[in-house]
Amino acid sequence: MALLVFCSRVTSPPPPPLLLLLSLLLLAGAPLAAAARRPALWPLPVSVLQTPNLLHLSPRNFEISLDFGSFAGPDCFLLQDAFRRYHRYIFGYSKNLDVSLKSSFNGKEIQQLLVTITSDSECNAYPNTTSDESYKLVVQESVAMLEARKVWGALRGLETFSQLVYKDSYGAYVINETEVIDYPRFPFRGILIDTARHYLPLKTILTTLDAMAFNKFNVLHWHLVDDNSFPYQSMAFPELSNKGAYSYAHVYTNNDIRLVLEYARLRGIRVIPEFDSPGHTKSWGKGQKDLLTPCYDESDSFGPVNPILNTTYDFLSTFFKEISEVFPDSYIHLGGDEVDFSCWHSNPDVTEFMQQQGFGQSYEKLESYYIQKLIDIVSSTNKRNLVWQEVFDNGVKLNTKDTIVEVWKGPNFEKELSEVTDAGFTTVLLSPWYLDYISYGEDWRKYYKVEPLDFSGTSAQKELVIGGTAALWGEYIDATNLMPRLWPRASAVGERLWSSKNVRDEDDAYDRLTQHRCRMVRRGIPAEPLYVGYCEL
Ligand SMILES: *[C@@H]1O[C@H](CO)[C@@H](O)[C@H](O)[C@H]1NC(C)=O
Ligand SMILES: *[C@@H]1O[C@H](CO)[C@@H](O)[C@H](O)[C@H]1NC(C)=O
Ligand SMILES: *[C@@H]1O[C@H](CO)[C@@H](O)[C@H](O)[C@H]1NC(C)=O
Repeated sequence: MALLVFCSRVTSPPPPPLLLLLSLLLLAGAPLAAAARRPALWPLPVSVLQTPNLLHLSPRNFEISLDFGSFAGPDCFLLQDAFRRYHRYIFGYSKNLDVSLKSSFNGKEIQQLLVTITSDSECNAYPNTTSDESYKLVVQESVAMLEARKVWGALRGLETFSQLVYKDSYGAYVINETEVIDYPRFPFRGILIDTARHYLPLKTILTTLDAMAFNKFNVLHWHLVDDNSFPYQSMAFPELSNKGAYSYAHVYTNNDIRLVLEYARLRGIRVIPEFDSPGHTKSWGKGQKDLLTPCYDESDSFGPVNPILNTTYDFLSTFFKEISEVFPDSYIHLGGDEVDFSCWHSNPDVTEFMQQQGFGQSYEKLESYYIQKLIDIVSSTNKRNLVWQEVFDNGVKLNTKDTIVEVWKGPNFEKELSEVTDAGFTTVLLSPWYLDYISYGEDWRKYYKVEPLDFSGTSAQKELVIGGTAALWGEYIDATNLMPRLWPRASAVGERLWSSKNVRDEDDAYDRLTQHRCRMVRRGIPAEPLYVGYCEL
């Protein structure tokens, strides 16, 4: 996935000295009067009505609680945990004193946000493709109401409520009288992280999940392993990580994974693991003898997974049975991209096998043979699958009910979207959102401008585009720079995938995103600045 065909020019003029000076002045200069924090919604809800009627909230008197008439009981840990979390996001970590309250207090106060779940709550379930994330929020005097059919909508509504609260110029917490109706435009809104090029500590993954919730993302696409390392600690095949991880410390144990899964679930986020094959598998070969194809070229090395041996499929059956039990999501990503055919070509046993099978010189047919067997194995564990676009492009026989095709190549991804959906496949778009490609300036605007349904096709075809993913491949990313590179650039993708199609005003987006970025910083996410300026505390 790393060797992309995009050509991004990194030659840009050095920043003008005047701008640097301005930014220094802005950073150093204290504002003359305490400025109010501005409330900013990100991503923008479907409908927001606000009045100038201001209501006060005090950290000591305000509580978020569950309506007794709810389908969720007080034992719903997911909600209780979210209530605690959002109380802290709203008021900060310090037990804030209401010193300045008197100076602006107008007598109108909110003491409670009452959360109601109106149907089977799914409190103990994992979110999935069809999870209902809609909610309705009414902010009014004394008791504000948040109503959702499922806990997933309640989580999104709590985030919106927290974004509406701001500090007035006296430092008091206030919120306008407001009504919000909201639901996502696309059900699949992903962030891809790569723990193979660099190992990411657990804490970095958990913090990423926090930031995803602030931006209403709901899928963590976890590219767990690749050529470079195999950090997944398998129970059936411990040698895979013993030999294939960077070290014994650079692994994800079963407990680590359970922790990630639950942390994600509590934030309404699915975790889809990717085990990419038959290419991108060099690290697998270290701990699993005879899995990779021996290459008969001068390098004397190993190539993709060896598709001609029965032992390969025995291994895959056991391995993916384990994966299907460890990861609860109904989808597993099987990769299938960038298979290098030269090694297969060099190997006389492979050549003989291809003749027996009548594949001629078509290595695509050999790849298809492998992928089809792999998909059969994974289907037998009752999981569906995602694959990279090459699998579709190379003509592998796929079942439109079970496979989602991910479109990642650029620049002409519109054509691929047309073809994939014309063939009846559900698809997820990544091509315009490779955040590992960086350049000078405000590249969030480029991600923001994308319209995922801007390709030629019928409305039935467009309905097959279920969302997109912002990808942060790990060649140049580890725990030191992941957060500032991902945020707030990925936020632009978050709004594109959540908000209505007509939400495109870049000036408005710039203002809101600047505030949203400051809010992420206050919540402990080292999100990089959009441009010059400063954050209110
Ligand atoms: C929120 O209330 C303040 C104070 O009355 C008012 O100035 C502001 O315009 C209101 N915001 C909106 C979006 O109505
Ligand atoms: C999604 O989750 C709900 C609640 O657990 C479940 O009833 C439903 O069958 C699931 N749908 C899919 C497509 O897995
Ligand atoms: C591999 O499996 C196939 C089908 O089960 C079988 O016909 C073949 O003999 C096996 N090959 C070897 C070398 O065991």
